[in-house]
Amino acid sequence: MKIQPATALRGHISVPGDKSISHRAVLVGAISDSEMRIEGFGRSADTESTLAAVRALGVTVHEDDVDTIRIEGTGLRGLRQPGGPIDCGNSGTTLRLLAGILAGQAGRFELTGDESLRRRPMDRVAEPLTQMGAKVETTDGKPPLVVEGGELQGILYELPVASAQVKSCVLHAGLYAQGRTTVVEPVPTRDHTERLLAAAGAPVTTRPGRVAVGPAERLELSGVSVPGDFSAAAPFIVAATLLPGSELTIHDIGLNPTRTGLLDVLERMGARITIFHRQRAGGEPVGDVEVHSAELTATTVRPEEIPRLVDELPLFALAAACARGESRVEGARELRVKETDRIETVTTALRSVGVRITPRNDGFRVRGVPTRPRGGTVDSQADHRIAMLGAVAGLLSSKGVDLEGAEAVAVSFPGFFELLDSVTQR
Ligand code: S3P
Repeated sequence: MKIQPATALRGHISVPGDKSISHRAVLVGAISDSEMRIEGFGRSADTESTLAAVRALGVTVHEDDVDTIRIEGTGLRGLRQPGGPIDCGNSGTTLRLLAGILAGQAGRFELTGDESLRRRPMDRVAEPLTQMGAKVETTDGKPPLVVEGGELQGILYELPVASAQVKSCVLHAGLYAQGRTTVVEPVPTRDHTERLLAAAGAPVTTRPGRVAVGPAERLELSGVSVPGDFSAAAPFIVAATLLPGSELTIHDIGLNPTRTGLLDVLERMGARITIFHRQRAGGEPVGDVEVHSAELTATTVRPEEIPRLVDELPLFALAAACARGESRVEGARELRVKETDRIETVTTALRSVGVRITPRNDGFRVRGVPTRPRGGTVDSQADHRIAMLGAVAGLLSSKGVDLEGAEAVAVSFPGFFELLDSVTQR
């Protein structure tokens, strides 16, 4: 796909429902005692994997509309062992969050996924689940993962890596454990699981740096309203900031502070971003974000900030490429174990459009110049975030970008190109 240079982004848009919250709502709905109606469900290949997984486990899902679904919960212990492995596709969130729930079910469950997911580390969930008393086997630390549920004991678990997926997995298992299960976080990560479990009546307590859950008797939540996905809005925020003359409003996006690190980082680089209509939806802060273009200066993203913009770091690197001075990302080793090794794939993608970026073990350095990158060919390497990075790079470039593997966007955002086209001025 050829992405032609743009002059500006202008208009009003909304983005699909938050992927992290959509996954969680389906999973919690599946083990609830009531029917859960999910509005604003974010349709994507990843969330389809979660729907298919709960269906394979015997849960009935009604698809009333593209973004309205109902889940007929089977109760905390009502999931059924399927005849074969559960395919989580490209979705690490599906696999890791589901593993925690399966640890509390009777039966033997095999979880697997596509080539990318089968390369990703699963020791991080196998270890705490084993400590709690589940039987978990991995394949050299990777999927397929086999979970045999059993009697679980609550543990105090200090996360060795800042990961919301691992935290959520342990909290899910904690619903089934005797005594309390406490997760201690080195740095705050997205807290959608604890918000949702609390809303569904689970005994969750949080204080800074730790979250605990006790055994639950039943979960019940009749409705979840999913806000727009901040990570889906991020390519638009970065493109509108960097294309002179842009004025773009993105309505009803989730503004949970554990997700909006990119806004803070862009603001200290000089971005002009204003938030209107702050409100709450589905237990989450939501608002409209208005972006005007601005000239940026370099900054350093420090380790303690990383989880709040972990999925936006590829876009940050592009913003840094157009900012005056040298920017750095530090303490982001986790990028190496995402859908691709994003330190490598971001470096390759941005170098091929003319950006001066140097990979480091735990991040990268970018030499920014406030001019358009040249453009060239970008291969998504089947990574949705790299495909969106390539598209934004194309808009900003002087010669355009040939984007290979553009279809990878469907993993999180199937209508991405149409929406981008609708606000692009050429
Ligand atoms: C997610 C957590 C993050 C993030 C991923 C979604 C979640 O992963 O990168 O896209 O929904 O919990 P880690 O927990 O591996 O950091």
